[in-house]
Amino acid sequence: MRWVTDTSDSLADVVKRATAVLAAAGVPSPAVDAQLLAAHLLGVGRGELVAMLFGTAVAPSGYDALVARRAAREPLQHITGTAYFRHLELAVGKGVFVPRPETESVVQLAIDVLTQLNQERGAGASTLAADLGTGSGAIAGALATEVPGCAVFAVELSEDAYPWADRNLAGTGVTLVHGDMREAFAELDGTVDVVVSNPPYIPANAIPRDLEVRLHDPHMALYGGGADGMEMPTAAAATAARLLRPGGYFVMEHAEVQAAQMVALFEGSGKFENIRTHVDLTGRDRATSGYRR
Ligand SMILES: C[S@@+](CC[C@H](N)C(=O)[O-])C[C@H]1O[C@@H](n2cnc3c(N)ncnc32)[C@H](O)[C@@H]1O
Repeated sequence: MRWVTDTSDSLADVVKRATAVLAAAGVPSPAVDAQLLAAHLLGVGRGELVAMLFGTAVAPSGYDALVARRAAREPLQHITGTAYFRHLELAVGKGVFVPRPETESVVQLAIDVLTQLNQERGAGASTLAADLGTGSGAIAGALATEVPGCAVFAVELSEDAYPWADRNLAGTGVTLVHGDMREAFAELDGTVDVVVSNPPYIPANAIPRDLEVRLHDPHMALYGGGADGMEMPTAAAATAARLLRPGGYFVMEHAEVQAAQMVALFEGSGKFENIRTHVDLTGRDRATSGYRR
């Protein structure tokens, strides 16, 4: 397969060749990624890029290098420097977990509860929410920008991830703390309305199949601790129980296979009631919620 791009090559030809290169490298969505890399270099959206494929545009310079990085299974978002989460455009790169679509559904559960509280409390009402293990700031940023009057607190332990959260949450009003979720926000104990967490939860011996995850997502973001990965989820549940007011809501993301363990964790703590498992957009059990007794 010929690959090195000639500046006179048409955009359509190089994107087609890049699609083949990415497919051969096992990239799950080669055509979309080939288009998005070209769109990134050209500074256009994907829709505009697709329209350009039918015109006379030529290959953007530097395209081969980006395609080679993606073929080496570097995440698309690390190459473009951007991850989309709900309506947010987040800066991401080395050292920070790339936010995932399933977490968008978890955030929706929290937003529904906060919106309901706003309605019950009436005009000018305020609510209080916390995001444990904020990573890029995705969950906290979504809550702060989508729920009027919500004061959001976020904590992140990783020295590598914290600067990304700091950058993404600038101007959102979120109170960001560099620290351990196990001790965070003692000043808020018993007062928070909603706690959300997407903690590390992968069991020690469950090596992620996707190379993008295995090689590029930070270890601290993936592995939950202990053979079953439950140490950090257990810590998050304990912090949520400490922070929430009676009747406050806690929702936590987890792996599909951990749904029963999560229900047992919530029930076993004696701190939560109305415990429910929630499915993601593909119908998998990916979150558990409960209300503080
Ligand atoms: C699965 S990632 C989720 C990141 C982000 N909330 C999201 O959904 O995209 C888990 C995050 O928790 C952070 N973390 C791990 N242990 C922590 C701890 N003890 N205290 C605070 N954050 C922690 C990791 O560094 C990582 O950023």
